[in-house]
Amino acid sequence: MLAVVVGASGGIGAAMVEALRHEPDVTSIIATFRSTQPAPTQSALTQSDKNLSPATATPVEWYQLELTDESAIVKFADHLRSKLSQQTSVADDPQPGLRYFINCAGVLHNDQLSPEKTVRSFTSEALATSVAINATPTLLLARELGPLLKQESHAVYATVSAKVGSISDNRLGGWYSYRMSKAALNMAIRTLAVEWQRLYPQVSVVALHPGTTATALSKPFQRNVPGGKLFSADKTANFLMAVMRSLTPGRTGEFLSWDGTPIPW
Ligand SMILES: NC(=O)c1ccc[n+]([C@@H]2O[C@H](COP(=O)([O-])OP(=O)(O)OC[C@H]3O[C@@H](n4cnc5c(N)ncnc54)[C@H](OP(=O)(O)O)[C@@H]3O)[C@@H](O)[C@H]2O)c1
Repeated sequence: MLAVVVGASGGIGAAMVEALRHEPDVTSIIATFRSTQPAPTQSALTQSDKNLSPATATPVEWYQLELTDESAIVKFADHLRSKLSQQTSVADDPQPGLRYFINCAGVLHNDQLSPEKTVRSFTSEALATSVAINATPTLLLARELGPLLKQESHAVYATVSAKVGSISDNRLGGWYSYRMSKAALNMAIRTLAVEWQRLYPQVSVVALHPGTTATALSKPFQRNVPGGKLFSADKTANFLMAVMRSLTPGRTGEFLSWDGTPIPW
């Protein structure tokens, strides 16, 4: 069965790939990167876990995908369809499909973007960029990949969101564009879950909060994180994998933290 990790060149995405490589029911993985394909030696989790042999882990096929390019997402879906049809002829499996999909791509800051401390710094460009990367691709990918997910007896369509996208949990303020884009993502996930409950009842559609994780995205803000609250990417990936594994058909439309507890939307 196939697993797809989008944004797999990032800290959490790369660790997610490694976690999925050791999932017993995953036989092939397609992982996307935008700018640089990660070297195989970046396999921190594989190296740190002495019980797992990298040689027996599921191989990974890398695919370059710019998520703000809608036509590239359509081409990516074509690629997955052809990959799955090849698997049918080789393995003679009547129902090969996508078991796990997880979108780990996202942006908080880049050369043009910096999280706003005050509304005085807010710009429409920053919001548009944040939404284009953090929210829109999850729905475009759902539009294209839905029919592939329905072929499994249970499939998970997950996206890495952020607790700061919760409206009722917002006590600190700031970070307008990031918060708004994650809130939009959460609404997309919730709405998709309602639609797919009818169309593809065996698909669990969820938003996941990874906890503060030591990656490039959180780097400028790590000094404010209390000791023990900053997870390594491999720890986060193992938590998220456990949450995805714990889902069962019929459980959908949830916003779940790294430890599986629900977060208010
Ligand atoms: N780290 C945390 O503490 C934390 C906390 C809460 C939520 N999150 C969420 O977790 C997710 C993963 O974050 P991370 O910490 O792993 O960040 P990261 O290391 O900066 O990785 C971000 C990933 O997103 C990809 N990406 C960005 N823009 C893209 C685009 N236009 N097209 C395709 N891919 C694009 C990056 O690709 P390139 O490397 O090619 O740019 C990279 O693979 C994000 O959604 C983030 O909001 C993280």
